[in-house]
Amino acid sequence: MLREKELIDEAVEERERAYAPYSGFKVGAALLSRDGRVFTGCNVENASYGLTVCAERVALFKAISEGAREFEAIAIACGKVPCAPCGACRQVLYEFAPDLLVIMADAQGREVRRAKLSELLPQGFGPKSLRD
Ligand code: THU
Repeated sequence: MLREKELIDEAVEERERAYAPYSGFKVGAALLSRDGRVFTGCNVENASYGLTVCAERVALFKAISEGAREFEAIAIACGKVPCAPCGACRQVLYEFAPDLLVIMADAQGREVRRAKLSELLPQGFGPKSLRD
């Protein structure tokens, strides 16, 4: 896939910026918009644990606030083996990109898995559901 290596590299680098003193589980994400920009995000934890925000949502919210609305792919880097985005992140990404390519990599970016967001969130609820 176009720019896959670049996205994985950006996610791996961004992971180092994670603020994860409670879980110790660092996550990095790199989101590619259709206009060719890359938005990165890391997880940001909080002493009030439930206020933690995942890397994927940080990347998406940065992108939305910078005016991007359409997305092609997201790379996620975490752990000893690739991990899939949590349910909340799947739903938030689905709002803007039901067909998003999700590239899941381990913390070093060596092992890689790929899936469509619509496979990770089948029969998802989104803007179209409100219109239909
Ligand atoms: N985390 C993410 O950043 N993305 C996910 O998709 C799963 C979990 C973060 C949240 C928390 O800071 C840490 O990983 C452990 O759950």
